[in-house]
Amino acid sequence: MFERLQQKWKVSGWRLLLILVTFALGGSLCGYLGRQLLGLLQIDSAVIRIPLYILLVTILWPFCVLLISLFTGQFKFFRTYLKKMGARMAGKKRADHLVPQAPPTNVNNDTLIQPATQPVNQSGAQGSVTRIAVFASGAGSNAQKIIDYFRNSTTIQIALIVCNKPGAGVLGIAEREHIPTLLIEKEAFFRGNGYVDELKAAHIDFVVLAGFLWKIPATLTAAYPNKMVNIHPALLPRYGGKGMYGMHVHEAIIAAGEPESGITIHFVDNVYDNGAIIFQATCAIAPGDTPADLAQKVHQLEHAHYPRIIEQVIEQLQNQR
Ligand code: GAR
Repeated sequence: MFERLQQKWKVSGWRLLLILVTFALGGSLCGYLGRQLLGLLQIDSAVIRIPLYILLVTILWPFCVLLISLFTGQFKFFRTYLKKMGARMAGKKRADHLVPQAPPTNVNNDTLIQPATQPVNQSGAQGSVTRIAVFASGAGSNAQKIIDYFRNSTTIQIALIVCNKPGAGVLGIAEREHIPTLLIEKEAFFRGNGYVDELKAAHIDFVVLAGFLWKIPATLTAAYPNKMVNIHPALLPRYGGKGMYGMHVHEAIIAAGEPESGITIHFVDNVYDNGAIIFQATCAIAPGDTPADLAQKVHQLEHAHYPRIIEQVIEQLQNQR
């Protein structure tokens, strides 16, 4: 049970202990305060006392755990935990009261946002849920990992897959996962509005580039400042820039005889592979490794880290709201 909690909350054993202590002390404090308040009200009837006590304890509990968490050093965890609980309850309320929303459909005659074959996720209503558009041009293994990671999230939803290549593997993934897709064209992307209107119409809050090979136009980066991230299959600032994508990067690194490579996750600005770096991880290159071997090692790093880092960036944005 403890291991499952550790995995769920992504914390060390020591931190889990502090969190559980906070729960216990917060619960005791809130029970104590509830009884004191009830004493002050001097109500004798058990029929009123019991529901009133439950109501008081429910209201006091979040404040009590937050107070205790200040002393146990777990304030950030509990602030996020309570926000998530609130979002989940709000989501449940919406699901109870609303007919499930159809996913966004065509926003104009030329641009097709293909609706998902089934609703994506009932918690996908706007508000406390951050809606992500994943841009990808290829097989989509990163897109798949991101979809898997956020499948049961109540605060983050993969709402749209954007692709520039008809027939790309990522479109098959979107279909299987019932995620709406937007197939974009070069002319409209670079000379039009960069599909900003379509993304806004689909209520996209955050953009993730996962193997998307076109440069992002200024209209689009301006619409998502610090809300667009990319993954690059090398340790930027080296081996980045125009023409440096996918296998080309690995071939250049092997040809140069580098002892290591890795991944870079960064914010996107108007220059190729240039925005502020958020995270890097490295892997060693063994003598005799081919570009394909390196690609495999890099993919492993990408799959292990990208979803988690996306979550961290979005949680920071959600906490700033
Ligand atoms: C990934 O390795 C990603 O880092 C790279 O394309 C691959 C896509 O793989 N991106 C770039 O080169 C961007 N400059 P995937 O389709 O299996 O996720």
